[in-house]
Amino acid sequence: APAPDAQLRFPPPALGARPIDRAAWEAAFRHVRDETERRAAPLSPEDQQIQSMADASPTKWHRAHTTWFFEQFLLKAHVPHYRVFDERFFYLFNSYYVQAGPRAPRISRGLVTRPTCDEVTAYRAHVDREVGALIASADAATLAAVIAVLEIGLHHEQQHQELLLTDILHAFAQNPLAPVYDPGWRWPRPGQAARDRPAPPRGPSAPEAGPVALAPGIVQVGHAGEGFSFDNESPRHDVLLAPVAVDRALVTNGDWLEFMQDGGYAKPELWLSDGFLAAQAEGWEAPGYWRRRDGVWSSMTLAGVTAVDPALPVTHVSYYEADAFARWAGRDLPTEVEWEAACPQLGDAFGHVWQWTRSAYAAYPGYRPLPGALGEYNGKFMVSQFVLRGSSVATPLGHSRPTYRNFFYPHQRWQFTGLRLSQYRA
Ligand code: AVJ
Ligand code: FE
Repeated sequence: APAPDAQLRFPPPALGARPIDRAAWEAAFRHVRDETERRAAPLSPEDQQIQSMADASPTKWHRAHTTWFFEQFLLKAHVPHYRVFDERFFYLFNSYYVQAGPRAPRISRGLVTRPTCDEVTAYRAHVDREVGALIASADAATLAAVIAVLEIGLHHEQQHQELLLTDILHAFAQNPLAPVYDPGWRWPRPGQAARDRPAPPRGPSAPEAGPVALAPGIVQVGHAGEGFSFDNESPRHDVLLAPVAVDRALVTNGDWLEFMQDGGYAKPELWLSDGFLAAQAEGWEAPGYWRRRDGVWSSMTLAGVTAVDPALPVTHVSYYEADAFARWAGRDLPTEVEWEAACPQLGDAFGHVWQWTRSAYAAYPGYRPLPGALGEYNGKFMVSQFVLRGSSVATPLGHSRPTYRNFFYPHQRWQFTGLRLSQYRA
């Protein structure tokens, strides 16, 4: 079995580094491709087939779609006379790139029983060989362009590594047998290198858990300089910061239990209208995957059903729930600007749960998507969603950064989504 991701090097060398180190990029490519297979390895072909809801995708589809991404955007574009593995896969495994051609309906991904898992494994091996050969042989004139697309492909595959886990958790949570994905799944993840290990979660009572007070004035947010970033993190720009204090601690399960015991889910005055309707329609009375037996709460996790630990950060809450919780607590959710300004002082910023911000996912001033079909990657989703910052226990190491903008719709809660609170200091 491939080694856990912590033992391998990532992120790859900075794109700007000259000369381009082909061996380092080849190693980064192998590392990311292996990590996907490592995450899929505990899953049977039956497990890999299921699509438990429209928002989730089968493991087999994730393995194939990430492979299609390299075939579509790298190999077809840069390998003369590229021999495609199977023409039909362009239709099956294109997710949403309208400019790349027709694509299978998202809702029907679980119906695609062919190709089989073994055939997807062969597809992956074919593309791995071709990409390896391209990295080794691309002429100097095209190498920079090849590596630029390769790098996006690696970060893309890492996003799907997280989705693979959240999607199989959703599927397993529907199964009366409550299957265990990984009996060792815990917080932080075993095998995580000490340097990358997130700080242990700290409850609000810990002495170092006080808020980060930000001085009002102009701050800069967004990505600039070396290292990879997605197009939605640019351009770096000025914003006006209000006087605000951002909590260092994440909201915990214990905090959430207080909200529940106070009847938080049933008090319409705490909720946005859309949120209250969603909570009623879905029957929400606790975070996603929580179950109560004899008055005791447990939750479905990747390690199976385990007791709810009040000290851990709450997760699988929607934006609507996070917003209602903040109102109940008499506090705010930070904006993404406030989050980013406070980030250097937040001990628990990364590696636990993605944190909802109150910022709508929208273009930064002067934002331009990448040219061509890859421009559909982030830009066309900039409406009706909210930004999450940080990273979660399921995020591959080295994937996120202080300027990273994740985004989901306000009703969604199958990702590892939680929150921290803030407060204006008027
Ligand atoms: C940034 C996680 C919302 O799930 O569609 C995967 C990541 N983009 N393939 C998503 C993504 C293209 C994206 N999220
Ligand atoms: Fe994708």
